[in-house]
Amino acid sequence: MLRSKIAGMGKYLPKNVFTNNDLTKFMETSDEWIQERTGIKERRYADRTGETTTTMAIEASKIAIERAGITPQDVDFIIFATLSPDYFFPGCGVLLQREMNMKEIGAMDVRNQCSGFLYALSVADQFIKTGMYKNILVVGAEKHSFGLDFSTRGRNVSVIFGDGAGAAVLQPSEDNSRGILSTHLHSSGAHAEILAQYNPGTHANHWMNEQVVADFDEAEIGEMFMSHSMIDKAQLFPTMDGTSVFKIAVDKFPAVILEALQANNLQPTDIKLLVPHQANLRISQFIQKKLRLTDDQVKNNIQKYGNTTAASIPIALCEAWEEGRVKDGDLICLAAFGSGFTWASALIRW
Ligand code: ACO
Repeated sequence: MLRSKIAGMGKYLPKNVFTNNDLTKFMETSDEWIQERTGIKERRYADRTGETTTTMAIEASKIAIERAGITPQDVDFIIFATLSPDYFFPGCGVLLQREMNMKEIGAMDVRNQCSGFLYALSVADQFIKTGMYKNILVVGAEKHSFGLDFSTRGRNVSVIFGDGAGAAVLQPSEDNSRGILSTHLHSSGAHAEILAQYNPGTHANHWMNEQVVADFDEAEIGEMFMSHSMIDKAQLFPTMDGTSVFKIAVDKFPAVILEALQANNLQPTDIKLLVPHQANLRISQFIQKKLRLTDDQVKNNIQKYGNTTAASIPIALCEAWEEGRVKDGDLICLAAFGSGFTWASALIRW
C-alpha cells in the first residue's frame, strides 16, 4: 500500500515576545494566575501591519519546501488550516499560492480550529495514498493577536493564545512500512457554542440560548452580519467556557490517542514522542498521566508560544525534529482537540 510521509517541516514565530507581565499593562491579570492555570510564560504576536496569517505561513512553508528538497513550483496541492484568515473570504490558500508563485494548483482552506492541522494532514494523506498528488503543502497558521479582547473582560481567552505558523510537505513514502500509519477524525456539535466566535455570522440568533446572542437593535436589512452594537458590546470576540472545555478535552484526547494505537496494534509505551495540540499545559499533563507517558515522550512548548490553534502541532513537531527528538523509525503520535468540538489523531512511523 502506498503511504505518505512528511518530507520536510518548517515553522515561523514572530519576533515580538509578550510575557505575562506585559499583558498586565492591558488587563487585570498576573504572571502567577496565567502560569498556574495554563503553563504559559510568554507568547509571540505578529507585527500588527507587517505580518498576516498568510505571510507567516509563507515563511514556514519556504523552510518546509526546502527541507523536502523541492521548489514551490513542485507543490501540487495546498491545504491551509486557520481560524484567523487574512480575509473572511477568499481563504489563505490562494494568497499563499499567489505569493509563492506556485502553479495554478488546487488550494483548500480548512476551518477546524485546534484540530485543523490534523484534519488537513488526513486529507493530504488520502490524496497521496490514491496517487493523485505527489507534493502536498499542509499549513497551519494563526494571527490571533488581531482578534482578541485585550481588556479585563476578555482575559480568560486572550491570555491563552499566540501567533505563529507551521508547515509540512507530504510526499509518497518509498518504504511502505514508514510514513503516516493512520489518521482518526471526530466531531460532536453538541457543545459547538462553548468555544466559539459567533460573529460575524449568519446565525441571526437562530441557535438562541443565553450563550449565542447578537445585538441587532440597530440593524436594518443588510446589516445583520455585523452591527455597531456588536462592536460596542464586544460580541465580535471569541468566547469560551474554559471549565467545560477542560473536562471534555481530558476525556477525548486520551481516547483518540488510544484509538490510533489500537488501530495499529501498538501500546502507549511504543510512542517515541506524543505531540499534542498545545491547548493548555495542564491538559497535556493530564493526558501524559492518564497514558503513563514519561516526560521524554511528550513535547510541550506552550510555555514559550501560548496556544497557536491550527499552528500548534506543526510548530511543535518541527521544533521537536530540530531538537533531534524525531528520528527515522520513531513512532510519533499527533493529537488534537478543539472548538466544534472536533478532535483527531495521527500515528506516524517516521
Ligand atoms: N487573569 C486573572 N484572573 C482571571 C483571568 C486572567 N487571565 N481569566 C479569568 N480570571 C478570573 C475569572 O474572572 C474568575 O474570577 P471570579 O472567580 O472572581 O469570577 C476566576 O479567574 C476563575 O475564572 P474561570 O474562567 O473559572 O477560570 P478557570 O479557573 O476555569 O481557568 C482556564 C480558566 C485557564 C481557561 C481553564 O478553564 C482551562 O484551563 N480550561 C481549558 C480550556 C483551555 O485551555 N482552552 C484553551 C483553548 S481551547 C483549545 O485549544 C482546545
